[in-house]
Amino acid sequence: MSKKLSLDKILQSQGFGTRKWCAEVIADGEVSINGSVVDDSRVSIDTDGLQFTIFDELWTYHEHVYIALNKPANYECSRKASHHPGVLKLLPEQFDRRDVQPVGRLDHDTRGLLLMSDDGPFIHRQSSPKYHVPKIYVATTHAAVSDELVAALLHGVQLNDEPAPLAAVSCRRVGEYQIEIVLAEGKYHQVKRMLAAAGNHCVALQRAQIGKLTLTELGLAEGDWCYLSAAQRALLVAD
Ligand code: URA
Repeated sequence: MSKKLSLDKILQSQGFGTRKWCAEVIADGEVSINGSVVDDSRVSIDTDGLQFTIFDELWTYHEHVYIALNKPANYECSRKASHHPGVLKLLPEQFDRRDVQPVGRLDHDTRGLLLMSDDGPFIHRQSSPKYHVPKIYVATTHAAVSDELVAALLHGVQLNDEPAPLAAVSCRRVGEYQIEIVLAEGKYHQVKRMLAAAGNHCVALQRAQIGKLTLTELGLAEGDWCYLSAAQRALLVAD
């Protein structure tokens, strides 16, 4: 739906700074649209498909942002990171100002696909256990993967503080020390705790896929991110 907003409000909504700061930058002639400087911050502009240049950098207006990040190890998913830098450090600083947050959590030492957004209902839907969006992980184990390990993870293992055993949606051996495991829930340290409960130990963990959205198809190098299109977001479903 097309929406008209004043230019200072547009820049503020995209996380560039306070409305006052944005108005000053506009008055200084630092903002252009279609190659022409717009120095009146109150001019009303259609945000639909809007592209603008600020400090010589081209930006596209997004009412909300939906981001896929290939998270490296040693970054924390919390907004108030304590022992390691937060994942927001891997994105342009505008995203932090517009309250972009991780959708769910990966442990600081887990790598792979992490969604981030500033759309509250989207974050809620993706994190809600009601929607059961499957998450696919590749776990490297300390001891060789046995048939019994795979069988136990498929059958269900009892974790402390859980009322009932938790089972993988699917699980298969993909290397001597590697399994691919699909989970429907997102409990705290779930893969690591399930592997420990099944008598092995997780030494490295990567999230490879959420719903039908795969890290491989996104082609993101570690630490890189991209916007998700509506078609890509439509892949974030149970089936
Ligand atoms: N399970 C874990 O143990 N850690 C993660 O980061 C994600 C799933």
